[in-house]
Amino acid sequence: MKSTGVYIIGISGSLRSQSSNTILLHAISALLPEEAYLEIYDKLDQLPHFNPDLDGEKELKAVKEFREKLKIADAVVISTPEYAFGVPGVLKNALDWVVSSGEMNEKPVAAVSASPLTSGGDKALSSLLLTLTALGTDLRGHSSYSIPAVYKKLNAEGEITDTETASKLASLTKELCKKVKAHRAS
Ligand SMILES: Cc1cc2nc3c(=O)[nH]c(=O)nc-3n(C[C@H](O)[C@H](O)[C@H](O)COP(=O)(O)O)c2cc1C
Repeated sequence: MKSTGVYIIGISGSLRSQSSNTILLHAISALLPEEAYLEIYDKLDQLPHFNPDLDGEKELKAVKEFREKLKIADAVVISTPEYAFGVPGVLKNALDWVVSSGEMNEKPVAAVSASPLTSGGDKALSSLLLTLTALGTDLRGHSSYSIPAVYKKLNAEGEITDTETASKLASLTKELCKKVKAHRAS
């Protein structure tokens, strides 16, 4: 990747091996502008339960690695399922670890929520956006998208078959890359 490239960390809120949200991150990776590269962070399950007492007291390897990845990333894309009308605990736990340390502060972020239900995803997305606001992330412009009935929009190969979904996600990532460049220029 060129030094002018855009390095994006993708985080799936689902730990399932066949997660539609993880599949979507791979599909988003294929939609990125040429200069951008997306790496999926897949170790949410290795982060300990957030406890401020543990922070700084001893070396928490998984937390340190997570924070370092976020620190060097130009931008972050999160794709999450909705569990019980909210964000999965593993994802909220991970985000809690970076509230005080600040790696997400001013970071351009795109948030996606996918659900198999026709009515699903939007409540988790709203909740995620509140947390991302608390973290001080850059959510300006077109930065979030809810995808209900996700299995009608993906084929068996994990490709997005729904043109509107593909177009919305492409514009989401384009906007994200634009914001990274604006940050660099400022
Ligand atoms: C315990 C549990 C609670 C769920 N609650 C919701 C919900 O509130 N809203 C929703 O849209 N889907 C809900 N679902 C369905 C998930 O959206 C579905 O399992 C989804 O595929 C998970 O995302 P993934 O494919 O990325 O793993 C729930 C699933 C489970 C197992």
